[in-house]
Amino acid sequence: MFINVIWLIAFVALTGLGIRLFIKVVRSSKMPVRYGSGFFVGLFTVLFGLITVLGFLGMLTAYLPRGNPVVEVTMAGTTEQIERGRQIASWTCAGCHSVDGELPLSGGEDIMADIPMPIGKATPANLTPAGRISTWSDGELQRVIREGTNPDGHLSTVMAANTFRYLSQQDLDSIVAYLRSEPAVETDIEQKNSLTFLAMVMLPVGMLPVKSPPDFDPPPHVESAVTARYGEYVTKVIDCVLCHGDDFSGGSGGIIPAGPSLAGAKLWTSEQFINTMRTGETPYGKMLSDEMPWEEIGKMDDETLKAVLLYLKEAAP
Ligand code: HEC
Ligand code: HEC
Repeated sequence: MFINVIWLIAFVALTGLGIRLFIKVVRSSKMPVRYGSGFFVGLFTVLFGLITVLGFLGMLTAYLPRGNPVVEVTMAGTTEQIERGRQIASWTCAGCHSVDGELPLSGGEDIMADIPMPIGKATPANLTPAGRISTWSDGELQRVIREGTNPDGHLSTVMAANTFRYLSQQDLDSIVAYLRSEPAVETDIEQKNSLTFLAMVMLPVGMLPVKSPPDFDPPPHVESAVTARYGEYVTKVIDCVLCHGDDFSGGSGGIIPAGPSLAGAKLWTSEQFINTMRTGETPYGKMLSDEMPWEEIGKMDDETLKAVLLYLKEAAP
């Protein structure tokens, strides 16, 4: 935060200098200076001014308290809850909160390292009882999962980009029940999270997919069964549309991988669809890149994958 404040001050100073220089230049009696230099000085001043305003707005988002109040819950921690939580964790959380993509969730490696821009560090935390969550209440834990607000009331960047706000309360309870049941595993990866000034500038223009705290109640529970409704629920939690575009008609790319339209894939048989997610190889013999999280999605059981395909048949173009 300290370094970002310095950056902000530097850009305020540059903008101020630019304005002074601009006034000087446009008052010049020499035409080439007035129009030639005036144009460039003006351009850079506007640019610095824009960076200053965006950086400031981004810092408000990142550093001001946010979030809905913590709702305290009492988890029964039944065997069914732990099992359901373990399943969801294996196809959602494990992709980040584990080095090898497998349970337990003993912490992953900086996921910003692959982004070709200096936007900061985000290390998926150790979520076993050996990590810092052991001192958090169940309600605090649920809030960071659901909306990306830390116990101290601040933005948890990557968690706020997720769609776990669409988890039913029943499923969120199960996830927390599972986390509490994990064995304590130590990790030696430094649990570091920070955003650079560039990230601050990107935040207010929506270039980082951070979401505001949800202003709706947890959605109703959907029984896990081979139904399009359950498939819809799962795709919403996994956020297939983030990459595949609204209505699965193909994503636009940018900082997020551009997934193709699923108009073709919706015609696959259940066997073909399940096989693709388990092996990464499509029915026409193409190996999917790891931009498509098939390994995680492939951890879903057959029924869940069938439900997802049923929903694609309904929703894809
Ligand atoms: C896209 C990767 C990703 C996925 C998927 C993900 N997390 Fe996270 N999680 C992170 C990162 C990175 C952090 C570090 C803080 C931040 O940047 O949000 C984090 C932080 C957390 C924290 C706060 C821990 C701390 O000590 O600060 C909790 C709790 C958490 N995640 C739980 C979960 C659970 C439960 C799931 C699955 C339902 C999950 N996460 C899925 C990336 C992920
Ligand atoms: C992080 C981005 C991302 C997410 C999330 C994502 N996908 Fe993909 N998906 C891709 C990309 C990129 C490809 C293309 C990979 C390639 O061709 O190598 C792809 C390819 C596919 C394909 C193969 C399409 C074809 O015709 O070859 C299917 C099917 C698919 N995704 C389904 C899904 C479903 C269902 C979900 C959600 C449960 C999902 N994807 C979530 C990025 C994503």
